[in-house]
Amino acid sequence: MPSTKKLNLLVVAFACVGVIPFACKKTTTASCDATRSLHAQSKFSIGVAIQLGQYENNLDYARLADQQFNSFTPENAFKAENLHPIENVFEWTEADRLISIALRNNKTVHGHTLIWHQQNPAWLSSFQGDAEAWEALFKNHIQTIVTHFKGKVKAWDVVNEAFNEDGTLRNSIWKEKIGPTYIEKAFRYAQAADPQAVLFYNDFNLESNPLKRKQVLTYLNQLRNRGVKISGIGLQMHVSLQYPEPTQIAAAFKEVFNQDYQVHVSELDISVNLLGNNNNPDAAVFEAQADCLGKIVTLYKQIPQQYQYGITFWGISDNDSWIPAYFNRQDYPLLFDKNYQPKPAYCKLIELL
Ligand code: XIL
Repeated sequence: MPSTKKLNLLVVAFACVGVIPFACKKTTTASCDATRSLHAQSKFSIGVAIQLGQYENNLDYARLADQQFNSFTPENAFKAENLHPIENVFEWTEADRLISIALRNNKTVHGHTLIWHQQNPAWLSSFQGDAEAWEALFKNHIQTIVTHFKGKVKAWDVVNEAFNEDGTLRNSIWKEKIGPTYIEKAFRYAQAADPQAVLFYNDFNLESNPLKRKQVLTYLNQLRNRGVKISGIGLQMHVSLQYPEPTQIAAAFKEVFNQDYQVHVSELDISVNLLGNNNNPDAAVFEAQADCLGKIVTLYKQIPQQYQYGITFWGISDNDSWIPAYFNRQDYPLLFDKNYQPKPAYCKLIELL
């Protein structure tokens, strides 16, 4: 258990970055069943991060994936360590299975992600080569993957998480080996391989950190001015009951679409146990979570339609969320509970779409 002092410090830390807890009042959302379909109800796409193993082995998971969502983002299958595990070997088997499941069920596929500093294969960090060899590797990695999925993957997170919180470029193997122009090059290579693909820059905290957002927008605008195609921005939105404020989210959506970028809420989950001190949240907490989701979706609906790429949830049920394992805490951030039953957040969402 964290001490009270530690908790106070954490709260102060949030307040320091202008974070005030949501005023989440209890709502009267009636419980609902999941016989209806989120995506059928929605004017914009409702996506979900998909784990192939769960889809193939868990009937509840597969049923909800098929029924509720119309866009699949492979949660890990398209990351470099999985698609490109050995220097000259691409491994397509699982990714292709996922694609055929998606297409058979009339889902669009959102490709996540071509260039990132995480989940890269081990061989990459030990690759020996001069600047030309690195450039060839980089180009080949992007273009082999985009070409393989051409016509099947609608959109790509071309570059993921390239900026620090202060808006400077993050150090990564790509920045180090290709140079600071790697983002521009990544978009150009992806576009050349599939001119029809919708191309996104994706990052976290863009909704809560105005400085980072401003720097990212300034940077992407410069690339656009040089003729680079960037269709939209993915705001991951791993948010929590504590922050950000709806006003911050509203400002973020507005800034992004005002500068002519499609808005993808790309990895939405709402943590209810950010500080790790509430392992067994009560009903009021889940009502508050529903209320928070309601605010986010209401703001998203105010975005002009041509800029609404869609909202993607980072998993189906609390059983499948990345948060407990990654952050080593209990959490319940998704639409369905561990038994694949709808939570108040689901009921709120279907009511609002
Ligand atoms: C996460 C996956 O959900 C986990 O299964 C994996 O262990 C780590 O990566 N931002 C991203 C996603 O862009 O790719 C991350 O996904 C979550 C944070």
